[in-house]
Amino acid sequence: MNTGAEAVETAIKVARKWGYRVKGVPDGEARIVTCGGNFHGRTVSIISFSTDEEARADFGPYTPGFVVVPFGDLEAAVKEIADPRTVAILVEPIQGEAGVIVPPAGYLAGIREACTRHNVLMLADEVQSGLGRTGATFACDHEDVVPDMYVLGKALGGGILPVSAVVADWPVLGVIKPGEHGSTFGGNALACARRHRRGGLVGHRRLPAPRHRAGRPPA
Ligand SMILES: Cc1ncc(COP(=O)(O)O)c(C=O)c1O
Repeated sequence: MNTGAEAVETAIKVARKWGYRVKGVPDGEARIVTCGGNFHGRTVSIISFSTDEEARADFGPYTPGFVVVPFGDLEAAVKEIADPRTVAILVEPIQGEAGVIVPPAGYLAGIREACTRHNVLMLADEVQSGLGRTGATFACDHEDVVPDMYVLGKALGGGILPVSAVVADWPVLGVIKPGEHGSTFGGNALACARRHRRGGLVGHRRLPAPRHRAGRPPA
């Protein structure tokens, strides 16, 4: 896709369809758990679960199907993950818009564990934190957590070209069939060439090390 918000919208669509077709949630009842203080973009569905009045006010009616829990509160997250209608939790491993907010140690690992236990997808929005910006390839790596879906943007296009992506294994992403999702410029050659180069650097683990060694905070 092009923007981070589009990638988040994609993740939401995939998670909902996965919920209906794989998990067996009754039609129209899928819920996605989100975190207070989040920033995932500015589309209508995304601002529907924003807790920032500036992002939300005057843009309703809002998209249903989202539950908000306090960021960093593992108990609250696990309680909502356990609901049989929950298909996913969408979380920034480090929040970036409301300040740089690092969750308590064990938070991401606890979410991972609860998602596995309750057959819920863990969606990590690494648009801001991913691709070497916190000293590891992904911020989830700091807790040795592998989510079911990475949402990527920003640095994926080298900060110049608009390219974003959702990365997941086929049993999850494969629920989307040809024609169900896409965009005119989503596969544009120039941005994808840039993305390919970026992906290659990450694959060879050449990206995070310098920032990590320099001890610089995320830019
Ligand atoms: C974590 C996170 N997700 C999604 C977005 C939205 O990305 P975009 O502005 O490219 O739509 C942002 C933008 O800052 C972000 O920080």
